[in-house]
Amino acid sequence: VPGRATYDFEGSVVAITGGARGQGLAHALRFASAGAQVTVMDRGDGEMPGVSYPLSSRETLADAEAKLAEAGTGSRVRTVDVTDADAVAEAFAELRRDAGRLDILVNNAGVNVVMDLEADPGASWEAMIGVNLMGTLACCREAVPLMRDSGGGRIVNISSLAALVGVRRQVAYAASKAGVLGLTRALAVEAGPYNITVNAICASLVASPQTTFLTRQNPVSLTAGTAGLPYVLPGMNSLKPADVTAAVLWLASEDARFVTGSTLVIDGGRSIK
Ligand SMILES: NC(=O)c1ccc[n+]([C@@H]2O[C@H](COP(=O)([O-])OP(=O)(O)OC[C@H]3O[C@@H](n4cnc5c(N)ncnc54)[C@H](O)[C@@H]3O)[C@@H](O)[C@H]2O)c1
Repeated sequence: VPGRATYDFEGSVVAITGGARGQGLAHALRFASAGAQVTVMDRGDGEMPGVSYPLSSRETLADAEAKLAEAGTGSRVRTVDVTDADAVAEAFAELRRDAGRLDILVNNAGVNVVMDLEADPGASWEAMIGVNLMGTLACCREAVPLMRDSGGGRIVNISSLAALVGVRRQVAYAASKAGVLGLTRALAVEAGPYNITVNAICASLVASPQTTFLTRQNPVSLTAGTAGLPYVLPGMNSLKPADVTAAVLWLASEDARFVTGSTLVIDGGRSIK
């Protein structure tokens, strides 16, 4: 099917959490090439207690910054852990000081530990609820007043198909991502009067570093077990980050000005079967 949207985000100020690699980086690069000044907020520590695979390291953050610099829009990468409310507050205060505004926030930072309910959770539940849900809450809390003072804005929350369909060994992850959907609807009502839209995206399996690590660690449950639902559309194995990026940019654009509190599902028809 021909046709591809092009966007103009010239002068827009965008914040993307977890944007140093994977899907977040794809969103950041497309926003920057459409003219936006992007601030990526990522952890940069490599390891995180309770998370079974490596997160972005300082080198990953530096590489992402170099790629973003090519767009020439003053985009940058900041070391911020979204579970650290003080660090989040400082990062948004810095945005207010330096850019004076915020137009778009993409809450993309996320961790997923595939595990049985009865396994010792150690720090894993805390990591999933902490990053996926509390991190999103903390960023929204800082972004809303800044957007309100900028005349409005767009918040795009990255949930997951796991929030909508039952998936084995992902009970805590599903809980964290379903929480994001409730947050999205409630905040859409609360922030709507300030001309701020809040929407969520639920994607099925996306090719990314996270997926590579998880598939290596859980070959059976990710391919057969958790992804046992068939795709409706032919020729589909997993999504590409660009498939999600397209939805993020649309929801963030003027074209979607009357879309708020919604959940956009990108899953090749999996959840309808
Ligand atoms: N990969 C999939 O199949 C899939 C499907 C649906 C939804 N998602 C969600 O999409 C989002 C992006 O996932 P991805 O596949 O690109 O994963 P990824 O692990 O490749 O990238 C996630 C990024 O988030 C960062 N991050 C993690 N914890 C952080 C924290 N506390 N503070 C700041 N940054 C932090 C990591 O360092 C990394 O750069 C996540 O929210 C994930 O749950 C993924």
